[in-house]
Amino acid sequence: ADTLGASAAESGRYFGAAIAPNYLGEAGYADTLNAEFNSIVAENAMKWDATEPAQGQFDFSGGDQLVAHAQDNGMEVRGHTLVWHAQQPSWAQGLTGDALRGAMLGHIDGVASHYAGQISSWDVVNEAFAEDGTRRQSNLQIELGDAWIEEAFVAADAADPDAKLCYNDYNTDGINAKSDGIYDMVADFLARGVPIDCVGFQSHLSVGADLSTYQANLERFAELGVDVEITELDVGGEGSAQADVYRTVTEACMAIERCTGITVWGITDKYSWRGEDTPLLFDDNYGKKEAYQAVLDALNGV
Ligand code: G3I
Repeated sequence: ADTLGASAAESGRYFGAAIAPNYLGEAGYADTLNAEFNSIVAENAMKWDATEPAQGQFDFSGGDQLVAHAQDNGMEVRGHTLVWHAQQPSWAQGLTGDALRGAMLGHIDGVASHYAGQISSWDVVNEAFAEDGTRRQSNLQIELGDAWIEEAFVAADAADPDAKLCYNDYNTDGINAKSDGIYDMVADFLARGVPIDCVGFQSHLSVGADLSTYQANLERFAELGVDVEITELDVGGEGSAQADVYRTVTEACMAIERCTGITVWGITDKYSWRGEDTPLLFDDNYGKKEAYQAVLDALNGV
């Protein structure tokens, strides 16, 4: 096919982008989104600070706008993210013990219930591991202990039984200490019946990234019994070197039946969180970059 979304759909996959509601009024942004993508995720609008600015008082305005846009245009919606150490509202940051646990569980229930039935997969927990494969020492980990992650998954499952539930992290672009730690957690969850359906590999990359075990890493998780998703792909650099990295990642996903889709972390370089890195598939004027063609070709097996 001749668009990213339609090409991915031919093998039952999605091709998505991280979106900010305030750009939807820009014609180039909306036109590119609608033409090329069949899935979206909120870059920030569904995070804890955005959705629960005061405890128990929810603001779904940004997320609802994105969901409506997706539904009007036949796109799936990924949910990002229910629990994360970053972008917590200020009221939550100082909580301890059972007060923090109650806040976390109340947040998951409030957000996942609101969007129940409308989310293809939720990033239930984001970035909870350190580079050495141990748990990141966040307020959640320190206050709640190891069980907080499975408590979050159980709560998300209760609130939205239809969504696939993912663990999502970065610097997991191969077989390394961090991905080993996550692998062990997933294996343990599956063995004990903790609800987990998928692992998200953010894939914030740059030219020259060592991707020698990228596919093998996805493969081992798939063989364990979860879907794998490329959730925040972007590649700092330009030209054919950048296109090569995009191609390698896309081909790895296409080679694995349980790799259900790819999301790029934005549409245009103009609005990328990485500023001058020009990491996305469309330039500042929504022109298709060499990387775009590489991804399209890989999705089409050419
Ligand atoms: O909302 C305010 C806005 O009112 C103000 O005008 C503006 C001025 O700078 O700041 C706005 O908030 C910023 C927000 O993005 C929206 O633009 C925050 O300061 C800024 O910190 C925030 O950055 C986001 C970052 O997560 C926060 O950690 C990025 O957009 C977003 O791309 C990034 O996404 C994360 C994923 O969620 C998890 N994985 C890593 C990825 C990249 O860091």
